Amino acid sequence: MPHALNINGLTHTLDVDDDTPTLWAIRDLLGMTGTKFGCGAGLCGACTIHVDGKPVRSCITPVSAMAGKRITTIEAIGATPTGARVQKAWLELDVPQCGYCQSGQIMSATALLAANPKPSDADIDAAMSGNICRCGTYLRVREAIKHAGAYPTTSKKGA
Ligand code: FES
Ligand code: FES
Repeated sequence: MPHALNINGLTHTLDVDDDTPTLWAIRDLLGMTGTKFGCGAGLCGACTIHVDGKPVRSCITPVSAMAGKRITTIEAIGATPTGARVQKAWLELDVPQCGYCQSGQIMSATALLAANPKPSDADIDAAMSGNICRCGTYLRVREAIKHAGAYPTTSKKGA
């Protein structure tokens, strides 16, 4: 049946089964490949998107759960004030190694900083523990989150 997905400010109507994973819709049907497939089971965080500003694992979230919601993917996160600061910090600290997990890391980090602009190490660990990095970039991820939190903000709020 038709499902209207609001992704990065545009509405896409897809005729797919209710239980189609949102990740499939985003990557395979709409061609936005910045969001990655890792485990397919909600365990690695590679597929993280924002749904109404909150981090969500798109591999285990069906399109039927997206009615009336606002989806943001890595392709548009840099257009948000917090996302722009996170991407800047990622570049300045040269965080990625192979890069595969990094869009998910950035989406989770952005959601964290939008809700908590000055997170402690414990806050960062709690928010980021579901994002697995096989290259072991965890220390740089943590430093980049702190770095992004230290930038002057140009806007009051926003994921
Ligand atoms: S691919 Fe979704 S959590 Fe691993
Ligand atoms: S940078 Fe390679 S998996 Fe994270």
